[in-house]
Amino acid sequence: MAFLLFWFILFPVIAQPQPTNFIFHGFNRSEPKLTLDGASISSPSGALELTNDSRDAIGHAFYSEPLQMLDDKSSPSPKASSFSTTFVLAIVTPSSGRGGHGLAFTLSPSKQFPGALPEHYMGIFNSETDGSSSNHIVAVEFDTVNGYNDGLDSKGNHVGININTMYSTVTEPAAYYVKNTELKEDMILESGDPIQAWIEYDGNFVNVTICSFHLNKPSKPLISHPIDLTPFVQETMYVGFSASTGQKSSSHYILGWSFSTNGTAAQLNTSRLPMAPSKQNDGSSFDSRVFGLIVALSTVTVLLFGILIYFTLYKRNAKYEDLEDWELDCPHRFRYKDLYAATRGFQLSEIIGVGGFAAVYKGVLPTTGTEVAVKKITQSSIQGLREFVAEIESLGRLRHKNLVYLQGWCKRKNDLLLVYDYIPNGSLYSLLFNQEQGFVLSWEQRFNIIKGIAAGLLYLHEEWELVVIHRDVKSSNVLIDTDMNARLGDFGLARLYDHGTDSHTTNIVGTIGYIAPELARNGKASTSSDVFAYGVLLLEIVCGRKPVDSRNFFLVDWVIECHQMGHILDATDPKLNSSYVTEEVKLVLLLGLLCSHPKPEVRPSMSKIVRYLNGDERIPSIDNWEAFDSSDETYLKFLETISSDSITKSYRLSSIAGFSSSSMSSGR
Ligand SMILES: *[C@@H]1O[C@H](CO)[C@@H](O)[C@H](O)[C@H]1NC(C)=O
Ligand SMILES: *[C@@H]1O[C@H](CO)[C@@H](O)[C@H](O)[C@H]1NC(C)=O
Ligand SMILES: *[C@@H]1O[C@H](CO)[C@@H](O)[C@H](O)[C@H]1NC(C)=O
Ligand SMILES: *[C@@H]1O[C@H](CO)[C@@H](O)[C@H](O)[C@H]1NC(C)=O
Ligand SMILES: *[C@@H]1O[C@H](CO)[C@@H](O)[C@H](O)[C@H]1NC(C)=O
Repeated sequence: MAFLLFWFILFPVIAQPQPTNFIFHGFNRSEPKLTLDGASISSPSGALELTNDSRDAIGHAFYSEPLQMLDDKSSPSPKASSFSTTFVLAIVTPSSGRGGHGLAFTLSPSKQFPGALPEHYMGIFNSETDGSSSNHIVAVEFDTVNGYNDGLDSKGNHVGININTMYSTVTEPAAYYVKNTELKEDMILESGDPIQAWIEYDGNFVNVTICSFHLNKPSKPLISHPIDLTPFVQETMYVGFSASTGQKSSSHYILGWSFSTNGTAAQLNTSRLPMAPSKQNDGSSFDSRVFGLIVALSTVTVLLFGILIYFTLYKRNAKYEDLEDWELDCPHRFRYKDLYAATRGFQLSEIIGVGGFAAVYKGVLPTTGTEVAVKKITQSSIQGLREFVAEIESLGRLRHKNLVYLQGWCKRKNDLLLVYDYIPNGSLYSLLFNQEQGFVLSWEQRFNIIKGIAAGLLYLHEEWELVVIHRDVKSSNVLIDTDMNARLGDFGLARLYDHGTDSHTTNIVGTIGYIAPELARNGKASTSSDVFAYGVLLLEIVCGRKPVDSRNFFLVDWVIECHQMGHILDATDPKLNSSYVTEEVKLVLLLGLLCSHPKPEVRPSMSKIVRYLNGDERIPSIDNWEAFDSSDETYLKFLETISSDSITKSYRLSSIAGFSSSSMSSGR
C-alpha cells in the first residue's frame, strides 16, 4: 500500500517533466542561473560577452539547470520536447577590419566541452569529436567566416543547423523575408547592430528566423528544416551559447534571451535590453583608459582648432549663409533633429518599406509640413558612405518628372538619411504582385509606366550632364505617383553597399534576374546593363510574372518560347483579361526581348527605345535567337549558383566604378 502511494505520488513527476521557462533582459554579473566559462563575462553594461576580440578565444554561457528534453521517458517511444527561444545577439568586429568566427545556440548533454577548439569548431567540437553521433549536440550557428567545408559552408555570414558536427545540415546566407513577400533581404551578422533570432522546434520542424531587432518578427522563417530531434537528444540537456574567435576575432554578445519548453518563448521587451558595447569603448584596463583620455584631449584640441578655423573661414565667406545660389544647399543637408521629429522618432509605425539595411519612413517635415520619405541606411561602409556623399550633390541636381527627387540628406555616425519626395502609391512591384484584392493595373496604365521609366532612364543615361548608371533597375525601385506615372528611385545608391577593401572595386547591388550576363562576368555596370534590366522589367510588366520565379522558370526564356511557337500573346498577364492593344503588347514584348539580349551590342540605347515606344521608328527584328540559348556557360553557372541559394534575394556583385563622371561626348 505504502509502495503504491509512493508510486502514485512520484509517477506524475516523472511522466510530466517540469517545463523550463526563463527570460533575461540583460545579464547580471552575479546571475546564478547562468554558468559562464572561457572568455564569457557579463559586461558592466549588462550584455553577456561570450568572447572579447582576442584571438583563439572560446566562450560558453549555459543556463545552469538542465532541461528535460524527452517528454515522457516512461513511454516506450519518448519524443524530443518542443522548445522555443528568442535572443538578441550582436557581433562587434575590431576597428581594424573583419572579425570572426561566430556563435552558436547550443543544446548539449553537458555544460563543459573539454578539448573543444576555437575557430570554426566554435568551442563545441574538435577534430576528433566533430561528427561523432555520441555528441548529442544540436546547434544553430551564426557564422561570419567562410572556408570550412567548402560547398556547404562556403559562404561566411550564414546561419546553419548543425547536428553533432560543424558540417551544417542546412545553411542559408543571413537574411530575412520582408513582411508578406517572398523577397529576401540580406543581413550582415557582424555589423555590430543587435540582431534578433528566433529558434523554434515543434517536433517536426526546426525553424530559424532572424532580423534587425528594430523590426517585427518576419512571418516566414529563414530556415524551416523538417527534422525530428528525438534521436539526437538525451533525456537531460543544457541550453546556451558557445562562441569562438580564430585568427580573425570579434566580440560576441547576447543582449537578451527568452526560452521556453512550454509554448512560445515570451517576447523580449527590446527597450529593456542593454546596448551592445561599440567598437571604441571596450577598453576597461588602465592603459586603455589613459589612452582614451589622451585621445579625448587631442580630439577636444583638434575640435577647438577646427571651430576656430571654421569661424575664420565662415566670417570670410559670410555670404554662404544666405545660400543665394541654390546649388550650395542642394540637396539640402537636413538637421537630424528635424528628421527625427518628422518621423516621430523613427517609429516603427512610420515605416513604409524595408530593404537591405535601409528602412523607409514616412515623415512630415516640421518646418514646411510637406510629406517626405526618409530612407535610413544603417549598414553602409565608411568608404561607400564617403563616395556617396561626394556624389550626393550631383544626385540632388537630377530633376526629371520620372525620377524620385532627392530633397536632401543627413549623416549621423554611420547612418545616412536620405530625404525623398513621398510617392503615395508605392512600388510597381507591390502593384503588380501584392495588390489589394481586385486592383489590376490596366494596359493603358502599364504602357504609360513603361514609357515613364524609359524617359527617366533616358535622362540618366543621355540627357543629363553626366552619365548616371542606375545599376538596380527593377520593379521594386519604380514608384507610382497619384497620376499613375512611374518615378524611378534609388539611383546611385549602389555605391553605398561598398564593402570594398580594394579601393578600385566597389560592390553593386544587382538583383537576380535583372543582371546582364556581361555584368555577371566582368562586374562592369554600364548603360547597356541598365537596358538589360529594363528589358526584363518590360516583360515583367506585360506578363505579370517575376523574372525568376522558381528554380527553373526564367521569364525571358518563357517569352521566347511563346514567341517561337507563334503565340507571343500567350505570355501576357492573364489578369489583363485580354483587354489590351495587341500592337502595343507585341511591341513591348519584342522590345523586352531585344533589350534583354545576351549580347550587349545588340541592345538598343535608351533614346532608340523611346523612339520605338513612341512609334517613331520600327523595332528591328531579332534574327539570332540562338544567342539567347547558346548556353553561355559562365552565365548559366552564375544563375545556378544564385538561384540555388535563393530566388529573389539581392545579390552583391563586384563592379568597377559605375557612376561615370565622363560627360557624353556625342549626341549633344
Ligand atoms: C543583480 O543581482 C543582484 C543580486 O541578485 C541584485 O541585487 C541586483 O539588483 C541585480 N542587478 C540587476 C541590474 O539586475
Ligand atoms: C579577453 O579574454 C581573455 C580570456 O579569454 C582575457 O585573458 C583577456 O584579458 C581579455 N582581453 C580583454 C582586452 O579584456
Ligand atoms: C515552422 O515552419 C513551418 C513551415 O515551413 C510551419 O509549418 C511550422 O508550423 C513552423 N513551426 C514553428 C514551431 O514555427
Ligand atoms: C505551460 O504554459 C501554459 C500556457 O502558457 C500555462 O497555462 C501552463 O501553466 C504552463 N505550465 C507550466 C507547468 O508552467
Ligand atoms: C518595456 O519596458 C519598458 C521599460 O521598462 C516599459 O515602459 C514598457 O511598458 C515595456 N513594454 C512592454 C510591452 O512590456
